[in-house]
Amino acid sequence: MAPVANKEDSPNLILAGFMGTGKSALGRQLAKRWRRRFYDTDELVEKLAGVSIADIFAEHGEEHFRALERQVVESLLPANGAVIACGGGLVVPAGMGELVRSKGIVVTLFASVDTILRRTAGNSRRPLLKGDDPEAKIRDLMKKREQAYMKAGIAVYTDGRSLQQLCVIVERVYEREARASLKSRPKPD
Ligand code: S3P
Repeated sequence: MAPVANKEDSPNLILAGFMGTGKSALGRQLAKRWRRRFYDTDELVEKLAGVSIADIFAEHGEEHFRALERQVVESLLPANGAVIACGGGLVVPAGMGELVRSKGIVVTLFASVDTILRRTAGNSRRPLLKGDDPEAKIRDLMKKREQAYMKAGIAVYTDGRSLQQLCVIVERVYEREARASLKSRPKPD
């Protein structure tokens, strides 16, 4: 069941957070439960560029990738009624947190370094973790990004929670925020 009456009019649910925190898995599951469309910004970036994320990083660098992410958020996301999983660094550059928040209700997923390490092993869509010591890279990036993640959305901790439990938690957060945003909307004359 969609938690708010008319799903097309309901605000988007946007999942942010570090790589390997489960944004896509949870997003897909919630979209199925609520019968909403699901979007993954990594997939949209790849469609827009016509090449893989690994190739974008290798050929044009991270800055170009971030510009494509911005373009996706500005132009390719529906205004409402969808569940959207963001790439792990999308909310980090200046102004992106605000931009993403203007597109829906943002929940930021967190997980421990161990969980992230386990979930991200050997994925070519994550060139930032390539190399001998992915754990050091995760710790370093996490430290740099933590503030941005906290500011971007409502924090939900995923360690020790099943997908089913996380669906229930995020659904509650979403409902509460959706109701609050309905109340604060100016009434028509
Ligand atoms: C990135 C996370 C990746 C992908 C790209 C960069 C990041 O997405 O967008 O490799 O900067 O954290 P996931 O969080 O879906 O792995």
